[in-house]
Amino acid sequence: MPRVARAPGRVNLIGDHTDYTGGLVLPMAIDRATTIVFDGSIADAVGKAPSDNSKVSLTSDDFDGVVTFSLPIASPELVTPSWGRYVAGVAAAMLERGMTPRGFTGHVSTEVPIGGGLSSSAALEVAAALAFGIDADTSTIAAVCRRAEHLATSVPCGIMDQLTSVAGVRDHALLINCHTLEVTPIRLPDSLAVWVVEISSRTLDGSEYPSRVAQCAAAEVQVGPLRLADDDIVATITDPLIRSRARHVVTENQRVRDFAVALTAGDAREAGRLMYASHFSLSRDFETSTKLMDDAVDAYSRVPGVHGVRMTGGGFGGCIVVLTEDDVDLSAPLISESGGIRVRAADGASLSSVA
Ligand code: GLA
Repeated sequence: MPRVARAPGRVNLIGDHTDYTGGLVLPMAIDRATTIVFDGSIADAVGKAPSDNSKVSLTSDDFDGVVTFSLPIASPELVTPSWGRYVAGVAAAMLERGMTPRGFTGHVSTEVPIGGGLSSSAALEVAAALAFGIDADTSTIAAVCRRAEHLATSVPCGIMDQLTSVAGVRDHALLINCHTLEVTPIRLPDSLAVWVVEISSRTLDGSEYPSRVAQCAAAEVQVGPLRLADDDIVATITDPLIRSRARHVVTENQRVRDFAVALTAGDAREAGRLMYASHFSLSRDFETSTKLMDDAVDAYSRVPGVHGVRMTGGGFGGCIVVLTEDDVDLSAPLISESGGIRVRAADGASLSSVA
């Protein structure tokens, strides 16, 4: 019987570039997911042999070509077409942990815009982990999928995207402590809506993301874990660039705490204020925004019923996230070619059978 592995994308409401220093983030899984239909269905449909447990064969709605590789896989970064590297990375990461990925024949489709900053790659990794038959707790699945991203690309990402895709809770954002991996769902008030606007398509592969990770590591060499640091400690960092990066991380962690309090209290005004402050910190101290994104934040901030706007995710392009009153409609283009997409907080990844 065909099986379906489904994993959602995510949008981060606040707390960017904090996860890889064990800081705080506040994302939500969204009602747009990547799906792998596997075993039986595709093979039967095209009259091929049933799946072989030591082989992976995968096609996609969005890309030409067939991804095929044998298990165990040694060099996931060499798999072609290149989207298959994320899948192969998951198999390799499972093998590193002594798990046995089971091969499958499958087909991938996605509702998550690819390269749009909504974690299409994490959704693919998590769906692949389920298709490989991973049997582990939430944080282990997320850790395996994060490692897959490291093996497949040159992006030394944190755990936010993968953990959100696994642990999502319908109608809730997730306060995640990326050091302990504790996840605290926070109910989103019904009176508010979350919109995402793609400002420019981009991939983090080849971006300055790794240099930001390295700069945070350099700060930690001088002052210890940034998750434990405060403003006074940051002020002792001698290099001005490293000091700015650290200042972003330390102030962003505090904004996440304050945002969680504001959301719980239904204080949309305060939540919005914190989102703007987060954007300016990412733009000035962390330098992960672009002129277009800054202009977009400015333009959307003027729309009636908007409480807060900020860039979201890794940056250097990608999406902005907008917190609005429930009745605001941002679907028409305002500043970029794309209109907004309203997203709703969704449950995390799941595996099911198709009758
Ligand atoms: C990307 C990474 C995440 C996180 C964000 C920035 O989405 O995959 O781990 O670092 O950027 O918050």
